[in-house]
Amino acid sequence: MGQNFSTFTFTPSVKAVQARFGSRNNYAASEQDPDRYNLGESEIAFIESRDSFYLSTVGENGWPYMQFRGGPQGFFKVLGERLIGFADFKGNRQYISTGNMSAEKKAMLFLIDYPTRQRLKIWATSEVNDLTDDPELAAKLVVPDYRAKVERVVLFKIEAFDWNCPAHITQRYSLDEIESELANRNPRFAGLRYPPSEASHHRPV
Ligand SMILES: Cc1cc2nc3c(=O)[nH]c(=O)nc-3n(C[C@H](O)[C@H](O)[C@H](O)COP(=O)(O)O)c2cc1C
Repeated sequence: MGQNFSTFTFTPSVKAVQARFGSRNNYAASEQDPDRYNLGESEIAFIESRDSFYLSTVGENGWPYMQFRGGPQGFFKVLGERLIGFADFKGNRQYISTGNMSAEKKAMLFLIDYPTRQRLKIWATSEVNDLTDDPELAAKLVVPDYRAKVERVVLFKIEAFDWNCPAHITQRYSLDEIESELANRNPRFAGLRYPPSEASHHRPV
């Protein structure tokens, strides 16, 4: 274990349950150095290769909220040793995550890669900025040529993170990953799309 996360998660109630079920002593022995939570090479590569993540925020009524955020691979960017961010696209205009983060900056991010069965949890302090607040920063985060209107940028100052084991994660692949693997095996599959478009009904077999 590392990355400061027990500071955020091992509350008295959590420790009491660990004690009850016999894991408290093991975890107490490995509680973390609170300074060890800079992103390393593996975290940076993982964050920057995502095409989605789950963002959890808290409403001022105390209820947690969870929402999906997606974009082209690489839309989630590492800006510093403890700073990451993304450009937030226009959606259904409920603005629940944005509203929550305006009142309570605590956020939790969940990043998962199904093919390699890796998952990364990140605790962060959020900051929501208008595009005009810092145009230079906005330019770093906006993905050119993507079919979405960017409404704001969201920054996360990392407070802690932790990798999970691969247990119980079913391997799944995106269309792009399947297509590229098929093309590697047989160049005739390059450019295939499922379901096939009208124009490509004569698929090679
Ligand atoms: C027309 C439209 C309808 C949508 N409807 C939903 C919906 O019913 N539920 C949902 O979770 N996301 C929906 N989305 C996607 C969300 O708008 C998008 O994920 C947005 O970022 C949600 O932000 P929020 O949950 O923080 O308010 C919709 C998007 C569009 C463009």
